[in-house]
Amino acid sequence: MSNEISQPDETPPQARILGIETSCDETAAAVVENGRVILSNSVASQAELHAEFGGIFPEVASRQHILTIHPIIASAMQDAHLTLSGIDAIAVTRGPGLPGSLVVGMNAAKGLVLGAGLPIIGVNHLEAHVYSAWLHRGDQTPPDEPKFPLLALIVSGGHTELVLMNDHLDYQRLGGTLDDAAGEAFDKVARLLGLGYPGGPAIQQAAQYGNARAFSFPRAWLEGSWNFSFSGLKTAVLREVRRLEASGMTLPVKDLAASFQYAVVDVLVGKAIAAAKEFNAREMLIAGGVSANQLLREMVEERAPVPVSIPPIYLCTDNAAMIAGAGYYRFIQGQRDPLDMDVLPNWPLSEL
Ligand SMILES: Nc1ncnc2c1ncn2[C@@H]1O[C@H](COP(=O)(O)OP(=O)(O)OP(=O)(O)O)[C@@H](O)[C@H]1O
Ligand SMILES: [Mg+2]
Repeated sequence: MSNEISQPDETPPQARILGIETSCDETAAAVVENGRVILSNSVASQAELHAEFGGIFPEVASRQHILTIHPIIASAMQDAHLTLSGIDAIAVTRGPGLPGSLVVGMNAAKGLVLGAGLPIIGVNHLEAHVYSAWLHRGDQTPPDEPKFPLLALIVSGGHTELVLMNDHLDYQRLGGTLDDAAGEAFDKVARLLGLGYPGGPAIQQAAQYGNARAFSFPRAWLEGSWNFSFSGLKTAVLREVRRLEASGMTLPVKDLAASFQYAVVDVLVGKAIAAAKEFNAREMLIAGGVSANQLLREMVEERAPVPVSIPPIYLCTDNAAMIAGAGYYRFIQGQRDPLDMDVLPNWPLSEL
């Protein structure tokens, strides 16, 4: 599918989109203008609520979304100084995500479009992570327009996907994880090391003071394919922890965290760059929660043969500005969804 929506000499269609996101444990709403300019961005994280479970408790997540969704939408509209009459369409995360969480945002969006007579657009959460890289606030310099073909690496709590984009909204999936997602590996290893949830930021913080070469953990390069695997690495960390504990030693948590982080990032960056070269990408893009990782950001900037787009930290993890951003490109492409659309908890990018 090729979409002729990026011709440089044409003024892009004007539209303000209200985005709504409830796929996991963030309740979020945002208003974005013309797919790029953030007018407001409200996020209520449930991380503290789930910390005691060491991961997301789906039933707790959906109940909390119900309590938070209306105040968050009201706050996004207020911060944008708009009422629904100033909005052109509502974009809502349709999937992938937790079913009970997705339906809260979907039903809130349906109620609003029904009342205000607006179009509704169901957005894929992974596509939205990609579009987070081109967002900016009105007082910031806009990121450059994307250059296609573009090699995108989406690394989040539930996904690790290597994707070639030949144009806006046009995805060719090259590969993905065969087992754990990169973020999931960070969360599991953090739990193993007693660092708490969410694991990514906790590992990064501990790793800051550790030696990344203290342990030589395995890298699954899976030569000849664009897939990833992180379960062997996770097991290797577990085995090392057991061995150290059995020997009566105090766990060198910082060195273990640093060595684990280095192993994950080395493979992510190595494979993404190899794919960018193989497919003659003119640009690379890294998005999703794990793209907040400082080592990943530094290593890819250092090694990449082409310019790299990475969202600012506050847009790496789940937010609704990215839903409104992707929703805009769907809106100007003509997508309008029926009011009886259902959520798609397992909606792969390859089905777009
Ligand atoms: N600094 C960091 N370093 C490494 N990982 C990080 C960092 N910050 C956040 N993460 C990880 O990012 C993940 C959360 O990202 P995100 O919110 O995009 O995931 P999700 O929405 O739960 O999953 P998906 O987008 O696949 O549905 C968690 O696994 C978290 O540990
Ligand atoms: Mg996400």
